[in-house]
Amino acid sequence: MSKEQIIKKCLFPAAGYGTRFLPATKAMPKEMLPVLTKPLIQYGVEEALEAGMDTMAIVTGRGKRSIEDHFDISYELEHQIKGTSKEPLLNEIRAVINECTFSYTRQIEMKGLGHAILSGETLIGNEPFAVVLADDLCDHAQGDAVLTQMVEIYKKYQCSIVAIEEIEPELTNKYGVIAGNEIEPGLFVIKDMVEKPEPKDAPSNLAIIGRYILTPDIFDIIKDTKAGKGGEIQITDALLTQAKKGMVLAYKFDGKRFDCGSVNGFVEATNYFYNKESK
Ligand code: G1P
Repeated sequence: MSKEQIIKKCLFPAAGYGTRFLPATKAMPKEMLPVLTKPLIQYGVEEALEAGMDTMAIVTGRGKRSIEDHFDISYELEHQIKGTSKEPLLNEIRAVINECTFSYTRQIEMKGLGHAILSGETLIGNEPFAVVLADDLCDHAQGDAVLTQMVEIYKKYQCSIVAIEEIEPELTNKYGVIAGNEIEPGLFVIKDMVEKPEPKDAPSNLAIIGRYILTPDIFDIIKDTKAGKGGEIQITDALLTQAKKGMVLAYKFDGKRFDCGSVNGFVEATNYFYNKESK
């Protein structure tokens, strides 16, 4: 990690039930669903690692123990496959375990993404940090991964940043949607943001996807944020407050993103990575 690395921690809200994948997620966390042979959350951790972060802060809940076991050594397994042709299959996960520290806390009640992020405050402390929603799986054809791109922007502007992409206008009620002034190609100063608006109420078709860089003052703002859409504490509402007090940026990232929280997106991602790997 370079000395000038300023964002060292990445928070993974991973307490949700994954109801769209029932029955698969009845006894297994949705973050552990594999695209090919790798669980979704490992893709997210690798993206954070690539962006120079080495401390992964995971907000879990009941029934999520296998996430902790995944990012740990399995001595019995290691012993069993040592020296066999299967051993290299553990190379990637071993590298991740060697290079990062993992810490965990539990979100006791499901009160929304803002609340989940606030639950991670003790793991983050008073420093800027990234947030990855593991079911938004991102890939970059060439160049840097999404979080790496966002870290570069953070170095220049030192404020909270959300990743955005253009969506079909009829899908706005699935996302946080922003409106802003474009200050550089693809980079907007946020003027408005709304959580899951109906298409007629949406300020644009620029949707937030699950990559954020947040400055730590967001924690106090979340504490003062009232329940919003769906009766939940929304990070979108807290970020609008932060935008009004200072500046929050929205960045149209370079790359591809799959909504692996939906069966369609998950199948799409599986096909995409299968084709990519078999080339
Ligand atoms: C969350 C956020 C939303 C964002 C989305 C990205 O919603 O609340 O603003 O657009 O993630 O995936 P969720 O998909 O958890 O309902």
